[in-house]
Amino acid sequence: MATRQDILALKKSYQEALANQLVTAVIILNSNLDIVYVNPAAEALLIKSLAKLYGRPASTIFANTTITDSRLTQLLDSGQELTDSEVVIEFTESHRFTAEITASSVEFNQVAHVLLELKQIDQQKQISLEVFQQQQWLAARDLIKGLAHEIKNPLGGLRGAAQLLNKELNETQQEYTAMIIEQADRLTNLVDRLLGPNQLPQIQQHNVHSVLEKVCQVVSFSQLHESKIIRDYDPSIPLIECDQEKLQQAVLNIVNNAIQAINDEHTITLKTRIANNKTINGKRVKLTAQISIIDNGPGIPPHIQDTLFYPMVSGNSNGTGLGLSISQTLINQHQGKLSCHSRPGHTEFIILLPLQQKTEH
Ligand SMILES: Nc1ncnc2c1ncn2[C@@H]1O[C@H](COP(=O)(O)OP(=O)(O)OP(=O)(O)O)[C@@H](O)[C@H]1O
Ligand SMILES: [Mg+2]
Repeated sequence: MATRQDILALKKSYQEALANQLVTAVIILNSNLDIVYVNPAAEALLIKSLAKLYGRPASTIFANTTITDSRLTQLLDSGQELTDSEVVIEFTESHRFTAEITASSVEFNQVAHVLLELKQIDQQKQISLEVFQQQQWLAARDLIKGLAHEIKNPLGGLRGAAQLLNKELNETQQEYTAMIIEQADRLTNLVDRLLGPNQLPQIQQHNVHSVLEKVCQVVSFSQLHESKIIRDYDPSIPLIECDQEKLQQAVLNIVNNAIQAINDEHTITLKTRIANNKTINGKRVKLTAQISIIDNGPGIPPHIQDTLFYPMVSGNSNGTGLGLSISQTLINQHQGKLSCHSRPGHTEFIILLPLQQKTEH
């Protein structure tokens, strides 16, 4: 007959074996929110051993995420479980992943601890989501383009008629036709932006840094002090195949948004790197040039994050919401990808441009 002690020992060894075999990453924090345990799945996901993590604060893993100390403390007090579905954990530029995280309170030796379960979001799922969003974006853009086209034709007629009428009227009455012409021109301008870039890119080999320097020149002339821009360039990036003007415009729209979002204490960083094995529209590209435009401003308003690249989505009361949609079109014309990660204090737009035109599945 097994004694009660035998059963307890058996139970303990089963529990240990179970924790070691779990595919879900498990992290346990003590009541001070220090890490006291990570299972092997968590060690693999975090690429850090228990020995390295033991005793470190939870923020070692969850800094800059929604899993904040105050929420975890609240969880310890209330015992109420929390689940966040898309938490981006970022250790380094190349070690970043998205996970679904559930946190609950458990008792060990009569002391409340936090049990965290992390499920990495499948990369394939992430890719299909990206492809789906791209399709949605194309549909929204086509709808707007169609509408813009329909507005543009009668607008031309309206302006022409006002011009003819202008000749028939006396000076006071001409004020009215002048106003019609002026407003029609304003609308034509808007409609042209809605229609987006309509010429095919003129592809040539260019140095990516000279494109970025041109953007810096343009913004420093207009609105920004040069010292606000930090350059973090990788000089080993080979020449890229692009339409210089179009790429410049794409970056300029992003930099302009950053300028509008930041104040005197913030900065904008332009960073370039070579990146390997990236997926662009569901296809794997071996070698890409990566341009990041980073600012440490307040971040993208959460309510527009999911539809950020759609035409006419704006967080500014006087914005038309076309800048990013146009940048997206321009980057697409280069078979590239434009994406964004944003949280308060760190907004990063990433442009990926294939360095080898050949792509593989
Ligand atoms: N770096 C950033 N920081 C904070 N918010 C940003 C940043 N970049 C973009 N945004 C938000 O995204 C919105 C959409 O940008 P987009 O360039 O498409 O349109 P817009 O700037 O409002 O208008 P337009 O560029 O047509 O004049 C902005 O209104 C702003 O709310
Ligand atoms: Mg803009």
